[in-house]
Parts: sequence; structure tokens; C-alpha cells
Amino acid sequence: MTEKINNWFKDKKLRFLVTGAAGFIGTNLILKLLDLKQTVTGVDNFITGRTSNIDHIIDIAKKANFSDFKFIKGDLNDFEFCKNITENIDYVFHEAAIASVPWSLKEPHLFHSNNDTAFFNILNASRISKVKRFIYASSSAVYGTNSNVPSVEDAIGEPLSIYGAAKLTNEIYAKAFFNSFGFESIGFRYFNIYGGFQDPYSAYAAVIPIWVKKILNNERFVINGDGETTRDFCYIDDIVDINLLAVMYDGGEKAGVYNAGSGKSVSLNELIQALKGFFGNDIKYEYGPFRDGDIKHSAADITKAKRELGFNPKFSLKEGLVQSLEYYKNLFK
Ligand SMILES: NC(=O)c1ccc[n+]([C@@H]2O[C@H](COP(=O)([O-])OP(=O)(O)OC[C@H]3O[C@@H](n4cnc5c(N)ncnc54)[C@H](O)[C@@H]3O)[C@@H](O)[C@H]2O)c1
Repeated sequence: MTEKINNWFKDKKLRFLVTGAAGFIGTNLILKLLDLKQTVTGVDNFITGRTSNIDHIIDIAKKANFSDFKFIKGDLNDFEFCKNITENIDYVFHEAAIASVPWSLKEPHLFHSNNDTAFFNILNASRISKVKRFIYASSSAVYGTNSNVPSVEDAIGEPLSIYGAAKLTNEIYAKAFFNSFGFESIGFRYFNIYGGFQDPYSAYAAVIPIWVKKILNNERFVINGDGETTRDFCYIDDIVDINLLAVMYDGGEKAGVYNAGSGKSVSLNELIQALKGFFGNDIKYEYGPFRDGDIKHSAADITKAKRELGFNPKFSLKEGLVQSLEYYKNLFK
């Protein structure tokens, strides 16, 4: 898959806009695009993103003598700003959003503006600017009340959170923009993505960065529930690849949504065992109550992405953790 991607991009110089550039997925996408010698504009308003991620990208870009990266600070709630940044862009990767289910229940309005209005603005601006394809981050949260696993794309339930509702709204708008205007998009329902540049500091950080930070600081962490909760953990490099495959896609579906995960489900107890493999049996943790609103099982059926996009995730949990731990060890040293 990686070779196919490298070959496809080899003789091309395309112009990309990446929103959420200072965030986890945005940063990783930009680093790969620059490595592929593409031209990239990154934007972020730093509501949750980290300036250190942008500094790192600029550093890499300078060292490699890339003149192909530009960062613009700004808010996608501003439609004029969206129109300006989408001018002369071939493909948009829209990764900007606030990425937390519990936070969305505390501040619904904040989520409506950053996850819905911002999405609509950048989608509509991309259409006006004649962007070739709009590739965006949806979420497994759209499965909501449908708890059947593994999740398949055409069997969603009702949203269980404001965050889930916003992501579902994004998908509906993207489809309407194709049906109304012929504007092409691809949405990815990410499951639990992990890897370097994922924020370990936020009060709403994801499970792997939280636990790894606690372990490296020799602190005790809490497992919400009995540890038999399952998640589909997918390493970031595979997610970067699926986004690039969306650029290369020349199939028939013009406003598709795809599950983006590893296709393998792992329990939190299994994750603990994997971490013990790296840190030894002495890591300190305890079991606590289940967290309100958490679903018990989550797993991605990735048949559609394999069939239509040629997606073939290659990182096992252990391999992905090796890479991620390298990042966190450097961050906390
Ligand atoms: N990481 C995961 O496991 C996961 C799972 C499901 C879905 N997603 C989705 O993938 C996308 C990227 O996630 P991530 O983990 O990189 O999150 P992240 O929080 O690391 O990055 C999101 C970035 O978007 C920026 N942003 C938010 N609102 C903005 C606005 N109005 N204007 C400009 N910038 C804005 C933030 O400052 C942040 O840098 C998000 O849409 C998220 O909902 C992520």
C-alpha cells in the first residue's frame, strides 16, 4: 500500500489544505505530505492544537529544505477566512474539530460552532473554490445507538452525544453537497487512532496517551470498568495512508463514507498486557466505575475501505505501540 502511494505521488505536485494542522492527525498528515514533496497549507485556531506540533513541522520542513509548507492561524467559523484559504487548493483534508464526546455534553454550543458551523463553512468554501475533493474526519460516534459490532457503514443508529450528532450532520451535508452541486467528498469514520503527536495533556485525552503518560511518570491510572471494554485501536500511519488513498481514489462513489480502523478489536485488559510487555508487570493501575455514556464494544468492519480504496492496515497493536512509545519517551524525558 505504501509503495503504491509513494509511486502515485512521485511525479505529482498537488496543493493540499490541512485543517486541524496543530492537532494529532493533521500534524501526521502534513509530515507525510511534505515527505511526498507536495505543497501544503496548514490552518488551526489552537483551541486544542499545540504550537509545538507546528514548530516541529516547520523545523522538519526547514531541515529538508522544503519551501512547500505554509501555516496560517485562523478560525474556520469565519467563512471569509475559509474562502481565502481554499483558493488554488486541489484537495482539502478537514481534520479540525473538537474531539471529545464528554466535552461535547458539557459545552454543546462550542461543539456546534467548531464541529458543525466550521465544517459547513470549509465545505462550502471548498465547493466555491472548486477543490477537486473534500476529505474529512467523521467518527465511529455516528454509530450511536446501534451497538452491533463490527460496525458496517450503512447501519448507523441515533447519535448518543452532541459530538456524534455533529459528525453525522457533517456526513449529511457532504452527501447533500454532492447531490445538489456534484461536489465530491470522502468521509472517514475514525475509530480509536493513536500515535505520535497525540495530546497526552488534555483533560479529554485519549486512553493510550493518558496511560502512557501516567506510566512514564510512575503514576497510578484508572481503567474505567472491568477492562473487558473493547476498542479498535488503529495506528496513525495507517490512517495517514487511508487519507492518501482517498486522494488517489477513482471509483464510482462520489460522496462515500468509510470506516477507518484496524479491523481488530482489543480489550483494555489486552492493552494493559501489551503495555506490560514494554514496561514490565509493575505498572500501577486500578479498576474504577464505567464512565457514563461509554459504549462497551467498538469494532470497525473495514471491508468497504479495503475493497474500494485498497486500504490494508499494516500495524499490529504491538508495532504501533513501539512507535508511539518512542514519541512519548522523548516528550517526557
Ligand atoms: N483521534 C481519534 O481517535 C479520532 C477518532 C474519531 C474521530 N476523530 C476526528 O478526527 C479529527 C482529528 O482528530 P485529532 O485526534 O487530530 O484531534 P486534535 O484535537 O488533536 O486536532 C484537532 C485540531 O482542530 C483544531 N480546531 C478545532 N476547531 C477549529 C476551528 N474552528 N478552526 C481551526 N482549527 C480548529 C484544534 O485546535 C486542533 O488542533 C477530528 O475531527 C476528530 O473529531 C479523531
